[in-house]
Amino acid sequence: MNVRIAIVGTGYVGLVSGACFADLGHDVICIDNDERKINALNNGCIPIYEPGLDELVSRNVKRGNLRFSVDLPGSVSGREAVFIAVGTPSHPGTDCADLHFVMTAAEQIASNVDRFTVIVIKSTVPVGTNREVQRVIKHCVPEQHMAVVASNPEFLREGSAIEDFMHPDRIVFGTENEQAAVIMRRIYAPLENLGYDVLTTGIETAELIKYAANAFLAIKISYINEIADLCEIVGADVDRVATGIGLDHRIGAAFLKAGPGWGGSCFPKDTRALKATAAEHVVPMRIVDAAIESNTQRKYAILKKIENACSGSVSGKRLAVFGLTFKGQTDDVRESPSIDLIRALTEQGAKIRAYDPSSPAEASRLLPGLCMTASAVDAVKSADALVILTDWQQFIDCDLGELAAYMADPVMIDLRNLFDEQTVCSKGFRHYIRVGRKSANLLGARPGLVQQKKQLSSEPLPTEIPLMLWPMPQQRPELNGPIGESKAA
Ligand SMILES: NC(=O)c1ccc[n+]([C@@H]2O[C@H](COP(=O)([O-])OP(=O)(O)OC[C@H]3O[C@@H](n4cnc5c(N)ncnc54)[C@H](O)[C@@H]3O)[C@@H](O)[C@H]2O)c1
Repeated sequence: MNVRIAIVGTGYVGLVSGACFADLGHDVICIDNDERKINALNNGCIPIYEPGLDELVSRNVKRGNLRFSVDLPGSVSGREAVFIAVGTPSHPGTDCADLHFVMTAAEQIASNVDRFTVIVIKSTVPVGTNREVQRVIKHCVPEQHMAVVASNPEFLREGSAIEDFMHPDRIVFGTENEQAAVIMRRIYAPLENLGYDVLTTGIETAELIKYAANAFLAIKISYINEIADLCEIVGADVDRVATGIGLDHRIGAAFLKAGPGWGGSCFPKDTRALKATAAEHVVPMRIVDAAIESNTQRKYAILKKIENACSGSVSGKRLAVFGLTFKGQTDDVRESPSIDLIRALTEQGAKIRAYDPSSPAEASRLLPGLCMTASAVDAVKSADALVILTDWQQFIDCDLGELAAYMADPVMIDLRNLFDEQTVCSKGFRHYIRVGRKSANLLGARPGLVQQKKQLSSEPLPTEIPLMLWPMPQQRPELNGPIGESKAA
């Protein structure tokens, strides 16, 4: 039996969850206080980059079981379940999660319920938050009605969010109210009936499962990154090591890809929040602490690696950077290693031209003046080195020979290990540096390519990304400056 659902917060989690619930047959309204977002959705535009989402949204809007609104009070009315999927970033200057979006949403919802309603917290919140929300909403709910909380952490990954939601490893929810549990089971019945595991737990347990899972995955990445450092010294290959250990089913192959360090909208803030919760309860969390520290150090190590590849200094070097997002298949740049690295490289005097297939508008806000190009080729023209920071399929699909030919010095620093040496070598790159393996000094550019380069040097400078991606017109004059300019703050 379908459930009347409202979702407060129509971001990466709220929008995907709403569209998927609608596709499972429920009647869904997604609410956001960002009018631009809701207007875009009501005009058929998807405000985020997520493969398959536009088709899923438009199908369910047409079917009439998915709507969007800014009107929270009106939209909550008559709903059996109202999900909270607002952000829980780190509180500025602390490790703690900032819960004010959650608390505000909970109060707004509770003040407007007009029947028995489950307020389901899908946002990632520290242990104790659901109980606190229950306490707060008690005072807001109109007397004749009732609202209870349920914790239902979300495990989807950006880039494969629909697949993850529709084919979950598990569904977790915790509630202490029987009626709420029945509604939660009805919501997830279409997935439970397909055989996906539903784990019902206490509220605190559900809350902690999410943090324990994210911290564990972050630890796995930090571990393989440190193994990668050792591989570089002793002459081993980290990808083969990862395969070798990942085949052990007790370890598993996922999240053993060495790279520039973890980032994104979840791991950094969630590991910090777990650390803060543990500290509050005076419980040592040494392994999580170590992973955070290791990940911070990794950024310096990667910066050094790039400097070394550029003969010890990036000052005055023209660098092409591929990838601004924290991973491929998303436009999310929150705590992306690329952002910090570009900032640091720019401070060291590098002139950067960056390309990202999702053209993340948020990157130009974080790095004002960053020169973003509309294509991979535009980014590498006349570059002294190419730095690959994100694992986009589009980078793997690039014509490496063409890239090498356009570069002033065909050096590739591949921080995602997207290629093999043989391929890079055969395409004209002089130097191929990767993660977790001794770098290869290759044979040098082929004569034909050198000739091609000479011809290219008289070509006009590459075109910049269209004006619409640059929200600050005062930055535009810099774009007309010499190639590779980046004035990131
Ligand atoms: N992004 C992920 O991959 C992911 C995965 C699992 C869990 N989570 C968790 O889910 C939560 C949401 O993450 P996200 O990435 O979707 O965040 P987001 O920033 O993309 O979306 C949050 C949305 O909530 C809206 N909002 C805030 N307060 C509101 C209010 N009072 N009324 C209406 N709308 C309001 C914002 O305008 C924004 O659109 C976080 O706790 C996050 O940790 C995220």
